[in-house]
Amino acid sequence: MKKTVLLKVDPQAPEIEKVRVAAKFIRTGGLVAFPTETVYGLGADALNAKAVLALFEAKKRPLDNPPIVHVCNIKDVYRLAEEIPTRAERLMAVFWPGPLTLIFKRSRIVPAVTVAGLDTIAVRMPRHNVALALIGESKCPISAPSANLAGKPSPTTAKHVLDDLDGRIDAVLDAGPTVIGVESTVLDVTVDPPQVLRPGGTPFEALKGALGKVELNPAVTAEKPMPVEKVRSPGLKHKHYAPNANVIVVEGELSAVVVKVNELAVYYTRRGRKVGVLCTDETVSCYYADVVKSLGSRNNLASVARNLFAHLREFDSERVDVIVAEGVPLEGLGLAVMNRLRKASGYKIVKASAT
Ligand code: TXA
Ligand code: MG
Repeated sequence: MKKTVLLKVDPQAPEIEKVRVAAKFIRTGGLVAFPTETVYGLGADALNAKAVLALFEAKKRPLDNPPIVHVCNIKDVYRLAEEIPTRAERLMAVFWPGPLTLIFKRSRIVPAVTVAGLDTIAVRMPRHNVALALIGESKCPISAPSANLAGKPSPTTAKHVLDDLDGRIDAVLDAGPTVIGVESTVLDVTVDPPQVLRPGGTPFEALKGALGKVELNPAVTAEKPMPVEKVRSPGLKHKHYAPNANVIVVEGELSAVVVKVNELAVYYTRRGRKVGVLCTDETVSCYYADVVKSLGSRNNLASVARNLFAHLREFDSERVDVIVAEGVPLEGLGLAVMNRLRKASGYKIVKASAT
């Protein structure tokens, strides 16, 4: 066990002396958790193979799932990547800094472990002053997966990070809760048309608007586990986002969903389970269960995304056995929310229909 240093910083104007303490850990091969606009990341010097290996160990992450490399200026992309198509340059100009990760052919300076032996690399520039200051002061690109233990919901506060990683990492920069709440959208620009491998903070609709043609990898909207040979993003192979409780997702027309969620809540309560319902403002008063939590209004899928991972973790601290979750529309940030919920459930999806 090492001592994990907690550094509270101002999210807009981070105190430079604290950022320098964190940057010193990164420069000397250490591990620092830091906020981005999406979720907290766990950072290591992307060009230091030993540091990246320690990152995988701290998270207990399988070595075949490469993290995203974070930069603080576009210039660095040209060092890390070999071929940068014009359409990717346009995307960087429009969406960076922001929750969009681009997959490029990797350059030779990148150690194999940083990209899990692939010939491609995932790069993004986060829209968060603390993250940008840390990368700038560290003077290196930073490999950073989400700062949770592998398989757990991603952390949206420094407390979530410490719950999983206290004693396993050198420091946490705490700048309060993250704004978006789900991870970045991962877009493969090595293929034409570009393909979304993971839906996230940049909506598919916005990418369509900028690119004209863009595809969704079938895994994005999958309702059952994908055969491994069809999976193009290594992360999609592994169990993800799962709280300790069993999750069931109920999808369909809203009034039928409400009936079905209550039916399931009664079913599990009768069998002696502690039941949690994960729902929205419009339906929160309709449910009977041990714990009922709203993610926000269905008219504001950004708030639903922001609260998703925190609520899943809260159900665990309240020792809920079964979480019955309402589905939301697959539009805007709803696409990312449903992708995470379906995976958290291990694809236990119930379709509700009016009878
Ligand atoms: O918002 C985010 O993206 C957060 C914050 C910290 O920036 N990071 C994050 O990293 O979610 P991580 O490592 O948990 O997820 C990275 C995703 C995984 O699904 C991984 O498989 C995929 O990106 N990925 C990484 N390198 C790839 C590559 N070369 N080709 C395809 N997918 C890749
Ligand atoms: Mg992750």
